[in-house]
Amino acid sequence: MNAKPQFSILFVCLGNICRSPLAEGVFRDVVAARGLTDRFTVDSAGTGAWHEGDLPDPRSIEVAAKNGIDLTTQRARKIRQDDFSRFTHIFGMDLSNVEKLQRAAPARAAASIHLFLEFATGTTIEIPDPYYGDPDGFDRVYRTIRDASASLVDKLA
Ligand code: 4NP
Repeated sequence: MNAKPQFSILFVCLGNICRSPLAEGVFRDVVAARGLTDRFTVDSAGTGAWHEGDLPDPRSIEVAAKNGIDLTTQRARKIRQDDFSRFTHIFGMDLSNVEKLQRAAPARAAASIHLFLEFATGTTIEIPDPYYGDPDGFDRVYRTIRDASASLVDKLA
């Protein structure tokens, strides 16, 4: 029988259609490649509800697919109060996400809330929203998330 996962990770951005679904898929892929799937629960959510129930943005689906990762089983959702007790780590993609998470968290939240790149790599850099940017933005976000996911697994596992 498998043991209970040791780490439960929630990636959070604004809409849960561009950055955090990509982080969910990529991080899961990195964990699987290292044979650590049983030790992690992975999910993503948005601070906003505009895209509730939607597939990830086609540009996130495409950059993931180019790299052998399927995002099409994922659907957008908004963060919920029980996320703060269900997850051990909640990672915001930018500082505005982190601020909103800190404001929404109950006083004795079990989850620790961090800026993703700061926790994973020690650099206080945000993952910028690629939604209105040039198409290369999604490739850049993919590479940043891939590198940070490898660092995050090294740090936790
Ligand atoms: P995400 O990008 O936060 O990385 O999912 C966005 C997607 C949609 C919107 C904003 C950001 N929007 O305003 O609809």
